[in-house]
Amino acid sequence: MIGVTIDGRTIAVEEGTTLLDAARSIGIKIPTLCHHDGLPPDGNCRLCAVEVDERGRKKLVSSCMYPIKSEISADTKNERVIAARRFVVQLLINRNPKAIAIGELAKEYGVVREERFALEADLCVRCGRCVRACESNGTDAIGMARAGFERYVAAPYDEAPESCVGCASCAEVCPTGKITYKDDGLIRKIWNRTFDLAVCRRCGSRYATKEQLAHIGRLGAANIAVEDIDEPRLCDKCRKAIYTAKFKTGS
Ligand code: SF4
Ligand code: SF4
Ligand code: FES
Repeated sequence: MIGVTIDGRTIAVEEGTTLLDAARSIGIKIPTLCHHDGLPPDGNCRLCAVEVDERGRKKLVSSCMYPIKSEISADTKNERVIAARRFVVQLLINRNPKAIAIGELAKEYGVVREERFALEADLCVRCGRCVRACESNGTDAIGMARAGFERYVAAPYDEAPESCVGCASCAEVCPTGKITYKDDGLIRKIWNRTFDLAVCRRCGSRYATKEQLAHIGRLGAANIAVEDIDEPRLCDKCRKAIYTAKFKTGS
């Protein structure tokens, strides 16, 4: 365990714990945008900036990407930190005034949109969460296209992505609602593609697309083809409920 002092409070954390997690563990709130607990960190938005003091050397770091390896102290609220976050929020609100999450940040940090620098309003904040979610699924259907201010999330050749399985993970992790999908009956539409939804035979919920189930099967031993997924299956919630009930009764 390593001692870390955050905003004057000292705690012991396991080596490698990020500063963000250490701060959260004692109720200190640090704003984040590109970070998502279920995804690999990327550190691209810089919103989670804090100042660390490493043996007298003070520097700004991204707390979501800073593993604690030695005794340090950190300040999450001083003037330098707030100025750094305000700078990030300024760029975001200039470009993304319609994103509710960014509007809330701008309000919190007292930042208003500078019309003279305003770029074309867009909901995408280039946080990359959607791309990382898709990569984590092993589907790699979308990525970042172009560079600099022209960067945007896209499928190869801007076509409906062939390797997309319609899981909607990209939409679920998007902090601004840029990626949307629609479930209509047993049909899901996302990324200009249409998928069939599988229904749980126990609770009746539409819990996954058939392509998604086939993809999971392909990763395991089952090697299921989409066309073979015709009988109703159980959703994870029901599988868990049945397993728990079995465990309790010992049957
Ligand atoms: S819906 Fe398609 S693009 Fe989105 S995460 Fe799933 S596989 Fe990737
Ligand atoms: S579409 Fe959403 S998740 Fe993807 S980069 Fe843009 S804001 Fe982030
Ligand atoms: S949340 Fe840490 S860099 Fe984006």
